[in-house]
Amino acid sequence: MGAEVVIEGLTKSFGKQTIWRDVTLTLPPGEVSVLLGPSGTGKSVFLKSMIGLLKPERGSCVINGVDIVTCSEHKLYDTRKMFGVLFQDGALFGSMNLYDNVAFPLREHTKKSESEIKRIVLEKLEMTGLSGAEKKLPGEISGGMRKRAGLARALVLDPEIILVDEPDSGLDPVRTTYISQLFIDVNAQIDATFLIVTHNINLARTVPDNIGMLFRKELVMFGPREVLLTSEEPVVKQFLNGTMDGPIGMSEEKDSAQMAAERAMFEAGHHAGGVEDVSGVPAQMQPTPGLPERQGVRRRKDRVMRILHTLPAEARETIIASLTPEEQRHYGVGPARQTARINNRGDVPPRHHSGQLPTDQVAQLPGAQWQAPPNRGQGST
Ligand SMILES: Nc1ncnc2c1ncn2[C@@H]1O[C@H](COP(=O)(O)OP(=O)(O)O)[C@@H](O)[C@H]1O
Ligand SMILES: [Mg+2]
Repeated sequence: MGAEVVIEGLTKSFGKQTIWRDVTLTLPPGEVSVLLGPSGTGKSVFLKSMIGLLKPERGSCVINGVDIVTCSEHKLYDTRKMFGVLFQDGALFGSMNLYDNVAFPLREHTKKSESEIKRIVLEKLEMTGLSGAEKKLPGEISGGMRKRAGLARALVLDPEIILVDEPDSGLDPVRTTYISQLFIDVNAQIDATFLIVTHNINLARTVPDNIGMLFRKELVMFGPREVLLTSEEPVVKQFLNGTMDGPIGMSEEKDSAQMAAERAMFEAGHHAGGVEDVSGVPAQMQPTPGLPERQGVRRRKDRVMRILHTLPAEARETIIASLTPEEQRHYGVGPARQTARINNRGDVPPRHHSGQLPTDQVAQLPGAQWQAPPNRGQGST
């Protein structure tokens, strides 16, 4: 099973510029999570902080008992081996063919023989649909192939955590869906914990188990996909719909005067962009037939049902409606009696139970209509 990543109160600045503050979230083991956020909100900085390439000033990022922020160089080096990272452009060495690129971490970090390395490299190239392309140079292949080669390289050390930065950049919508399918398939096969940073709304709506969003230097939300996808929060709705109508501006957030002026313009008939009202929770992508089921999906169901009573009503109803009648009986919920059953339980999940998001990390929305249960942690407003 992939590792759990527990991030608490993480704050990162460059000089006087705070990038984000007090970011608290838990990546449940073996589940796929997506981090959304307007350009420049520090998503790449967040990924780099998770692997210790950048040092946040405050907070912790704990994996298997090791805090990446404060641990020794030696521990950091060891813990980093648990990560597979797919950077935006694949970050391949231009002068090496795909075989040598994918073999690189094995030659660098292990004492494996060349025949053992060959077995692993060919296996990962096959997993990512690159069999036969071993001799190609990165400059000779398409962007999609480069990304898949980057993923193959990220897989050779059997990572427990896979970080992906904007896998859709430079890809057409179809190729983006193919790489999305690949993430789901890899997750089904190795049960690694995934965090994918993306702007692609199709990917965000159909791939992850959990979704978070950075905005105004804070994590405005992180939790089961149903929470963000049913949210009425203006910034979330604007982002999912890709319109100009909302708090996200051309390069920064808008102030209230600018927002009012633009609102008047859209009300007077100016096209705010976007084509349709993107709302609701579409079906999630599944592993390609023939592959194993995703273990993370089963664990997530139990986890989400334990925290169900802490979720906003919309998300709660969507989750219950997605269960089969047997599952509804198993969990003791149903559309008609859900409210009474859930609200009467009164038990709040323990914090930091393995794979379970503490209540105050499930969703934090400024001005949201729902109330978190009374024993929420500190620093969560
Ligand atoms: N090494 C660095 N030194 C100083 N500022 C940086 C550094 N890396 C990133 N930044 C700044 O941090 C902010 C967030 O960057 P980034 O994480 O790349 O955003 P995103 O990935 O969300 O588009 C930007 O304003 C960027 O200029
Ligand atoms: Mg980035």
